[in-house]
Amino acid sequence: MFKKMAQLQYFCGLDLGTHTMKASIVRLTDEDNLDLLGVFETRATGFKGNSISDITELAECIQRTVQGVMQKTGIKVHAVQLGVSGSFLTTRRSSAVIPLVDSGTKVISKFDLRKVEAQAKLLGVSLDEEIIHDFPQWYKIDDINTSINPAGLIGRKIETSLLLLTAQASRVRNLTKAVHQAGFEVSSVAFGGYAASDVAIDKADKTLGCALVDIGANITSVIFFKNGIVGDVQFIPWGGNYVTQSIAERLSLTVDLAEEIKKTHAVANPKEVTGEILVKRDKGYIPIRREAVCEAVNWEIENFLTHLETVVKGSHLYHQLNKGIVMVGGGALLPGAIERIEERINTPVRMGAATPGLNNAAVYAASIGLGRMHYLKKKEEGIGIKTPLNFKDKIVNSVKELCQEYF
Ligand SMILES: Nc1ncnc2c1ncn2[C@@H]1O[C@H](COP(=O)(O)OP(=O)(O)OP(=O)(O)O)[C@@H](O)[C@H]1O
Ligand SMILES: [Mg+2]
Repeated sequence: MFKKMAQLQYFCGLDLGTHTMKASIVRLTDEDNLDLLGVFETRATGFKGNSISDITELAECIQRTVQGVMQKTGIKVHAVQLGVSGSFLTTRRSSAVIPLVDSGTKVISKFDLRKVEAQAKLLGVSLDEEIIHDFPQWYKIDDINTSINPAGLIGRKIETSLLLLTAQASRVRNLTKAVHQAGFEVSSVAFGGYAASDVAIDKADKTLGCALVDIGANITSVIFFKNGIVGDVQFIPWGGNYVTQSIAERLSLTVDLAEEIKKTHAVANPKEVTGEILVKRDKGYIPIRREAVCEAVNWEIENFLTHLETVVKGSHLYHQLNKGIVMVGGGALLPGAIERIEERINTPVRMGAATPGLNNAAVYAASIGLGRMHYLKKKEEGIGIKTPLNFKDKIVNSVKELCQEYF
């Protein structure tokens, strides 16, 4: 009973979207058993576009969101797993090569892999940047390409290439500071889009090849998976707010009204639409042609599709997307968007895996995935989640690694 309770872990993922802040509390007993206890969202404040405009407002918004999910679930949390928007990140590839021994050959240990990865990270990042994720792409032993895990092979030198996701250190510090100001600790920082993939796509699809497209408010992230690893990440400076803006400008409406109309009446396929919408103005209700709303939407959707097609078809993994595209993010909720993407890219497109009992699960995928990712990280490090088996395995593995290193 005690052991079981010790293994129960609650995690609070906080997805700091620039339009909507989302928090989830999940409970995990093991990797495959995730209970979603509740989600909560608030309209984000304290951001202007992609930058923090007012840290006090941001802290208040974080407090409202986390308090909201705590009240809903009845679970008190002290720390959050922070998810940052793609608009805070830059992608870069970096490689490094190191000798394994002065002369002769040796068995490659995990220690050697960590050493060459550390070298590639050091070379790939500037002083004012922080690495949020590093995805190993390949290893070469003595100039010959190997599988993704070369530990145990024999060689004289090792080379690796990493795909890095970096952020300006000061921007991450400011986000962390806002969470502290709201009264919570930050237990980890991750890219929200990548965290979403943890619950929106299963392992088999990541191995066979697929892309996760997260349409946010100001930015769309495209993450390509193949052989179970992230092989490419691209950002498109376009999101759902562009559609709202287009409706507001073309129909001379306020942004708030345009947002409401978008959510209730807009569709991405203008051919199917007829009729009128009654909109409240100062002098009473006025009719707006639904077709005109959809024309405004279509103009922006065409713009987006052109960007997305260039990014997807330009990726070296395009021909390996055997499992097509998976969509998440609020922007993906626009009716007809999936069909338009499918038609343009000519590949199957579906919404990210649904969570039982949760509407619009694709919007909360990042906040749910943040909790699960942190659980897995803690489990791997053996911190907090201590089971006798884990501890024993850890000791055996460390002794094995030491033996490989020195004998
Ligand atoms: N039902 C809906 N139909 C159409 N668009 C929607 C719907 N619900 C939300 N959106 C749009 O989704 C966008 C917000 O999505 P999301 O919450 O994923 O963004 P975010 O995470 O806050 O932003 P970012 O990732 O760019 O920082 C907004 O533009 C919003 O108008
Ligand atoms: Mg987002």
